[in-house]
Amino acid sequence: MRVLAVASEAVPLVKTGGLADVVGALPGALAAEGITVTTLLPGYPAVLRALDGATEIARYRTLPGGSARVLRGRAGTLDLAVLDAPALFDRPGNPYLGPDRTDWADNGIRFAALGAAAARLATEGAGFDAVHAHDWQAGLTGAYLRHGDASRPVLFTVHNLAFQGAFPAALFPQLGLPDAAFALAGLEFYGGVGFLKAGLWYADAISTVSPTYAAEIATAEGGMGLDGLLVGRASVLHGILNGLDADEWDPARDPHLEARFDADDPSPRAANRAALCRAFGLEPDARVPVFGFVGRFTWQKGVDLILDALPALLGTGGVLALLGNGEAGIEARAEAAARQHHGRVGLATGFDERRARLVYAGADCVLVPSRFEPCGLTQLCALRYGAVPLVARTGGLADTVVDANEMALRQGWGTGVVFNPVSAGMLAAALRRAAALFADAPTWRRIQANAMRTDVSWARSAAHYAALFRSLARR
Ligand code: ADP
Ligand code: GLC
Repeated sequence: MRVLAVASEAVPLVKTGGLADVVGALPGALAAEGITVTTLLPGYPAVLRALDGATEIARYRTLPGGSARVLRGRAGTLDLAVLDAPALFDRPGNPYLGPDRTDWADNGIRFAALGAAAARLATEGAGFDAVHAHDWQAGLTGAYLRHGDASRPVLFTVHNLAFQGAFPAALFPQLGLPDAAFALAGLEFYGGVGFLKAGLWYADAISTVSPTYAAEIATAEGGMGLDGLLVGRASVLHGILNGLDADEWDPARDPHLEARFDADDPSPRAANRAALCRAFGLEPDARVPVFGFVGRFTWQKGVDLILDALPALLGTGGVLALLGNGEAGIEARAEAAARQHHGRVGLATGFDERRARLVYAGADCVLVPSRFEPCGLTQLCALRYGAVPLVARTGGLADTVVDANEMALRQGWGTGVVFNPVSAGMLAAALRRAAALFADAPTWRRIQANAMRTDVSWARSAAHYAALFRSLARR
């Protein structure tokens, strides 16, 4: 069975977050299930550079934004189709943002072209048995298929309902879709064009990246204006947990680390902890926990809550390494905290793969106090690398971390610390609880061992996706 995946980022070529990890890892996991995936990506410079032995397989003259070619080639283990449209994608840096760090003004056209090309590629020649469209950037794929000459079943996966790809109605005439598509029963969304809405509307099946998030988005609290549509489509909505690429994320072989280790002997983590502290200018005592955070500095991720709860964190004697970037206001607060608590709060801004891995491999405890979290990969990385995750009970965080409360510990369970509701006060209490557990060394070792032995692989979820693709293709 052949599946065409459509997305705007994929590891190891271009990554701004977990979407890239998933799009990069799923083809390998699905191969084990007998499904061959070709991934259509925009031809950003980094993608074109990485393409090995590329050949032109199609030329489309009437895509939104003009003409484009599709190149086919391999990059690492990925079989790629690349939309080579220099006017749209030959731009340096972040795939969505211009040099002033705001969205490119033509993002609507750029990603409409991606969806239109996907629909044509999926149905040309022998074509594909099914299409897997990821997030709003691939959201119009289903619309182009439905309104085109030939169709294919589409699975649309929501990685984050907050990014909706909403554009003014003026975009619609440039899309080349029939007028009938601009309707409530179509891609119209609050008077404009909704890419995410279109993805949800036209899909034959919808999935999101954890069972709890699948339930949350079909409620008024979590639905972000799309809950009505999602409730209506509940019979085709699935929650399938993300996994980690076990080769990509392996503390026993990770070349970025100072020292490698595994669940049987995590003691070399001490060298990573020391390297982490050097990299972040921290000077902790061996008896206090090193807390870490890796992620986007946004409201979703609750970085502001960490800063609000800083007195409690420092009150445990612990120290904090913060890695990430994002909203200017949060960055400024983090910078101020690092200045004020020199040696106890360390900050690195930017996207830094090595530093991220040092946090997972060296911190005692990784904080994920998200206000909502579709799945979350940082806590999976933390589990695998033996940094005990401290997480909010929401979305995929609730599905992947088992709270080490007294009852759980008595059964030998518990892989982290889970708190809710999501507030600075409850985070402060969770930080104190984590520090108390850390001070009880045998208990902490037990939790860390449970964490490292958690199955965070793709195996189960790949089987779930495979079954879904097969049922779609049979219809
Ligand atoms: P998101 O909502 O951002 O997709 P996830 O937890 O699903 O959150 O995935 C984030 C991914 O990006 C993880 O692989 C994480 O290690 C990585 N990441 C996030 N911020 C940074 C950063 N500043 N430097 C390096 N890697 C990062
Ligand atoms: C999104 C979500 C995150 C999820 C990732 C990959 O970026 O915010 O929770 O893990 O997609 O599915």
